[in-house]
Amino acid sequence: MESLTLRASPSTASPLQRRLPGRRATSVRATASSGAAGEPDLSVCVNGLKMPNPFVIGSGPPGTNYTVMKRAFDEGWGGVIAKTVSLDAEKVINVTPRYAKLRAEPNGSAMGKIIGWQNIELISDRPLETMLNEFKQLKEEYPDRILIGSIMEEYNKAAWHELIERVEESGVDALEINFSCPHGMPERKMGAAVGQDCGLLEEVCGWINEKATVPVWAKMTPNITDITQPARVALKSGCEGVSAINTIMSVMGINLKTLRPEPCVEGYSTPGGYSARAVHPIALAKVMQIARMMKEEFDNGQSLSAIGGVETGNDAAEFILLGADTVQVCTGVMMHGYPLVKKLGTELQDFMREHNFSSIEDFRGASLPYFTTHTDLVQRQKEAIKQRKAIRKGLQSDKDWTGDGFVKETESMVSN
Ligand SMILES: Cc1cc2nc3c(=O)[nH]c(=O)nc-3n(C[C@H](O)[C@H](O)[C@H](O)COP(=O)(O)O)c2cc1C
Repeated sequence: MESLTLRASPSTASPLQRRLPGRRATSVRATASSGAAGEPDLSVCVNGLKMPNPFVIGSGPPGTNYTVMKRAFDEGWGGVIAKTVSLDAEKVINVTPRYAKLRAEPNGSAMGKIIGWQNIELISDRPLETMLNEFKQLKEEYPDRILIGSIMEEYNKAAWHELIERVEESGVDALEINFSCPHGMPERKMGAAVGQDCGLLEEVCGWINEKATVPVWAKMTPNITDITQPARVALKSGCEGVSAINTIMSVMGINLKTLRPEPCVEGYSTPGGYSARAVHPIALAKVMQIARMMKEEFDNGQSLSAIGGVETGNDAAEFILLGADTVQVCTGVMMHGYPLVKKLGTELQDFMREHNFSSIEDFRGASLPYFTTHTDLVQRQKEAIKQRKAIRKGLQSDKDWTGDGFVKETESMVSN
């Protein structure tokens, strides 16, 4: 197990030692307080940040200005991560349309339920000064609520330091670093261009952690072969937590009338980022991989914020069962609105009641030990079959398929 004191840092004090005393990310992870008697307690305390529940607005349109972030606090979200900001918003030029949706109905019928969402939206195009004034105002009005600034900059140490200083001055409680925006500005070495290159990532995380005085979460891209590699680099470089996942590189579709890809801007398109329900299983796999790595290699309160396709309390429960401390929601809020947090809370409490869990910590990571290799599954099944003395579940081998009983035989191998 690796401890914080063992981690190398550019100066003698570890990045965590340099955090402000009130915000230090030592191994604080116990639940913040107990709820009313008999009510499952949703409160969490992550890297010293106390939240009434684990539900956090993920960076994007739901955290794009004062009005919407205020709405999120009023509706009861545990925390808000603002839309990503950079020093010079004038360099950020968005196009329209920039969203495309995948619907569950055949032929993408407009009536069908939205299951996938693609965006080619860039980071915030609002002036940094405006965003910072709004952060300040929010923190003045909601001093006890958690506001996290999301930041992204070019490959330039001075620029990163200036951005961190200015965003911290606005009073944010923590920083999330966008190492994961999949589209736009790779030529400026921003977003996923850093998150996909562990060498660059280590260097930039070093710059960030020598400057930051509040907890830092590194937001990971799923558009990489092994997501544990950049997650490990970020944590070793002093980040207090990782967030995963950002959107998945996607092409939403081709219009079969015009033969043009979508979303179509002046007849052309570019691959975008995929989110919403359809990405949830992929996000679960990425979060599981990171959680296993963190459990094996880090044990000093480093945190994990899970993101991807959350629309129900059960979706959130799944992430927490894999080891997530907090659960972010972005597209779900765009589809269902800010009151979604009430439904998430009620459903998560129903789940907790069913299992007699009184706090989030009671079940965080509880499903993680049940992942293993395929080879191990084969071995376990062999043993189980031996022990059950020939109680058959499913076919023993591909030669046993009969063709006639195909549907029944397939059913016999489904887990529920
Ligand atoms: C329209 C849109 C804009 C987004 N903008 C940002 C952004 O500025 N910074 C960021 O870190 N993530 C951004 N994201 C990614 C989300 O925060 C989140 O990681 C991703 O959408 C998966 O979660 P979800 O399925 O809950 O949306 C954006 C997502 C969408 C849909």
